[in-house]
Amino acid sequence: MQIRIDEDRLINELETLATFTDAEPAANGTAVTRIVFTPHDLRARAWLKSLAAEAGFAVRQDAVGNTFIRWVGTDPELPAVATGSHTDAIPHAGMYDGTVGVLGGLEAMRALKRSGLQPRRSIELVMLTSEEPTRFGIGCLGSRLIAGTLEPARADALQDKEDSPLSSVRAAAGFSGTLESVLLPHGYYHAWVELHIEQGPLLEREGLPLGIVTSIAAPAGYRFTITGLGGHAGALLMPDRKDALCAAAELILAIERHALATGAIDTVATVGTCDVHPGAVNSVPSRVVLQLDIRDTDPHRREGVMQAVRRDCDEIRKRRAVTIAEELVNADAPAQSSAHIVETLESICNQDNISYKKMVSRAYHDSLFMAQIAPIAMIFIPCHNGVSHRPDEYAAPADIALGTRVLAAALAKLASE
Ligand code: GLV
Ligand code: MN
Ligand code: MN
Repeated sequence: MQIRIDEDRLINELETLATFTDAEPAANGTAVTRIVFTPHDLRARAWLKSLAAEAGFAVRQDAVGNTFIRWVGTDPELPAVATGSHTDAIPHAGMYDGTVGVLGGLEAMRALKRSGLQPRRSIELVMLTSEEPTRFGIGCLGSRLIAGTLEPARADALQDKEDSPLSSVRAAAGFSGTLESVLLPHGYYHAWVELHIEQGPLLEREGLPLGIVTSIAAPAGYRFTITGLGGHAGALLMPDRKDALCAAAELILAIERHALATGAIDTVATVGTCDVHPGAVNSVPSRVVLQLDIRDTDPHRREGVMQAVRRDCDEIRKRRAVTIAEELVNADAPAQSSAHIVETLESICNQDNISYKKMVSRAYHDSLFMAQIAPIAMIFIPCHNGVSHRPDEYAAPADIALGTRVLAAALAKLASE
């Protein structure tokens, strides 16, 4: 079977999708901000659905906005083969994270259709809601609910910065129904394959056009609220202060120190937000909220870092007379790829003389949760200098097209089983 990817069309579609953005234009690339259920996110969804309809695929949406684009197979009762990713983007991000997997998945399906394939199993593209944690503080909202790893009531109660709960935000966006209905049973898909940019430097550094992901590192998220004593920046004497931001600064540095101390390249910890109350230049900070993102291929080592951080918290709390409350957002297990799908991808690469490496994904992806209901694997393509979550994120058209072709071949093979 000859699979021809329409590279120009795919790149054009990626560029069009990048125009649905709330970001100010950037000098160093294409800045994209597309937060879940904002007008631009909704416009991107409508546009994606129009492409799917144009290609002759059936579209279904669930109560959280996960969008399922299905090419019905000749044996529609069999579990489908699926691919997908996300189209939301964190503030001031680039144009390839997630989108390559969604638009590449669509082009893979169109290319297979053009080739004359009649798949035995249905092939489905899934655009998953809010892979990024920006608005509701937890990543992979859609895939967590599909997998049942996030309680529907807890999900609906999650609030954004305006204190609007997911329940009303999704209803306003046109997604009603209970979140219980989003759950899919184990075995719903025969296989799941996600195409994504690597978001790291290894493929480019090693001159390889493709990576096959064998496991996904385990992420965890925590929220720390540090409460001290506010007051006048001129009048509150230094010895009398309980500055919440100074305590937070110590905590941030302790987190960095303990993550480095594992000596493992796979331990990474980031405090990416810091909300200071009241946030006035002449007011001593009385309250600070920090969000910590910590990941490791070994969840026990990740927990070891957290225990060391907690010991430091106790010490900072006592010495600075502040309170520090820790709240768990999520603590997930790592995911392993299916040996069968990895072998399928390897045999496609070997047949087509495509060099590749098997690798770990240090970023998380919806595949981490899809792994709980289906055998999964991922295809990585290089991104320039390993840059991601920045406007200068870049993947070369030829690499995008190659990854899409390998994805298409894998979907065709898995759909024939
Ligand atoms: C996904 O965007 C991640 O932060 O790994
Ligand atoms: Mn991302
Ligand atoms: Mn992503």
